[in-house]
Amino acid sequence: MDSYEKLLQCLKCVRRKSDFVPKVALVLGSGLGDYANNIRVDSEISYSEIDGFPVSTVPGHDGKFVFGYIDHVPVVCMKGRVHYYEGYEIDDVVLPIRLMKMMGAEILFLTNAAGGINLDFNVGNLMLIKDQISCFVPNPLHGKNLSELGPRFPDMTHVYDEQLNDIILRKAYELEIPLREGVYVQLQGPSYETPAEIRMLRTMGGDAVGMSTGVEAVAARHMGMRICGISCISNMAAGVFDKPLNHEEVQQAADMASANFAKLVTESVRGF
Ligand code: HPA
Repeated sequence: MDSYEKLLQCLKCVRRKSDFVPKVALVLGSGLGDYANNIRVDSEISYSEIDGFPVSTVPGHDGKFVFGYIDHVPVVCMKGRVHYYEGYEIDDVVLPIRLMKMMGAEILFLTNAAGGINLDFNVGNLMLIKDQISCFVPNPLHGKNLSELGPRFPDMTHVYDEQLNDIILRKAYELEIPLREGVYVQLQGPSYETPAEIRMLRTMGGDAVGMSTGVEAVAARHMGMRICGISCISNMAAGVFDKPLNHEEVQQAADMASANFAKLVTESVRGF
């Protein structure tokens, strides 16, 4: 079965359980899954109920689609995503994104936990993703082009949509929520970076580093989705402080940022 047939099979499986048509697809990153409690839920589908769907193995990644409303806006929310480092093929990693577009979502709102490369950043900051560097991970469009989804050579000049960014920046200003802006770098993981790697990424123009999001944005752009993204700076990247990194910090920083994160996501989605 090729990737497109698999997508159709997943879509069929979803449609047997729900006919919900979302406008916005929201991906909740590590530690940020509690945001789903802000959604007026219509229905939920566990990833494990969808034949062929990649199921996450990371603790804290619940693994379900939540369908419902943020104010009046119909959304599908991914509570938990799959990562390349878990061992999936790259087209399985982006399958959920493609599936949400096929359900009807035109806008993709990506969120994640990320390490702060930019020395002006602090733990708990929120960063609007203005652009990305995803050339250290496999390209999700590798192989035969799925022409049903998009063109062979999609343009990546404006991965993150300027109009959506403007709305998020305006809402942050109105809500008095400090919002950084920067370039997100995706690496493969699952090991954290070395201090030398972080210095390299800083020189290259990176502001935050993580292990998701970049490939999702490429697959979504391929399909013509409008994309925006927010990183929660869960730790300063390797070498900034003289201490080892650990996954527990991610949840702590997300908890610190969660009230502002929730307000900003809700108000932004209302404005889309
Ligand atoms: N590096 C990579 N991914 C991450 C980090 C980090 O420091 N923090 C959260 N996700």
